[in-house]
Amino acid sequence: MMICKTNDEVELMRQSALLVSKTLTAVAQILKPGITTLSIDKMIGDFIGDHHASPSFLNYHGYPFNSCLSVNDVVVHGFPGKNELREGDIISVDIGVILNAWHGDHAYTFAIGDPGQAILQLIRVTKESLYKGIERAVAGNRVGDIGFAVQEHTEKKHGYGVVRELVGHGLGKNMHEDPQVPNYGKRGSGPKLKEGLVLAIEPMINLGKKEVYTEEDGWTVRTKDGKASVHFEHDVCVRKDKADILSDYSAIEKAEEANPHLVTTGKIVQPLT
Ligand code: MF3
Ligand code: CO
Repeated sequence: MMICKTNDEVELMRQSALLVSKTLTAVAQILKPGITTLSIDKMIGDFIGDHHASPSFLNYHGYPFNSCLSVNDVVVHGFPGKNELREGDIISVDIGVILNAWHGDHAYTFAIGDPGQAILQLIRVTKESLYKGIERAVAGNRVGDIGFAVQEHTEKKHGYGVVRELVGHGLGKNMHEDPQVPNYGKRGSGPKLKEGLVLAIEPMINLGKKEVYTEEDGWTVRTKDGKASVHFEHDVCVRKDKADILSDYSAIEKAEEANPHLVTTGKIVQPLT
């Protein structure tokens, strides 16, 4: 069942989404080589609590941390730990909150130092594909139009692997609502999008092949070929002519540019294609 939100509800969801954006901005300010992912997770939990919200991932189907911190070949659901970030690592930071009973759930991938041109390009293209998917999230279109746009840009144009096992989703008073939003699909297929539907659109794109596996811990998803994977996620509300992006990357991107330990995709010297 797809649950469309009223305008007032969408404004509450915007507050939830923006709290995640704010938390991601705080993360962008502290990232540097030598920091442990467990300390990042602790900061995330404290930050969310200080803003009168709770981390929605904690205890979700038994998930044991505040956030998912996925380094290099970890696709999603990486456990924070005592491992220190190193120069050349990339990290997907995925955060969920419940604020005033409404969920926010979004993610950003950072590069700690220079991961090399190929991975920087993967980051740039994955972020671009998120916006190409969002462009299709308008009333009257179908869910498959979003996935088609993401897949065209990443798999068809750049030869990257689009993860099949994990998908975006509806968002509301529950973290996962209908519909599922795959990052692949056929144009004009799937459920029809209606105004007021809030979606978490989240391309998970591999540098190499699309195949992934889950570790013994039951959560950590890695690429089978051991190559890097990138993840970006926005919360968007379906509207008539243009989707309304409830989350916001602008402050995160500013903090990323200002942090001397982070390499941004703007620093790609020569785009490969
Ligand atoms: N953003 C992810 C999702 O949409 C993270 C949730 S997994 C959790 O599914 F278990 F950590 F909550
Ligand atoms: Co999500």
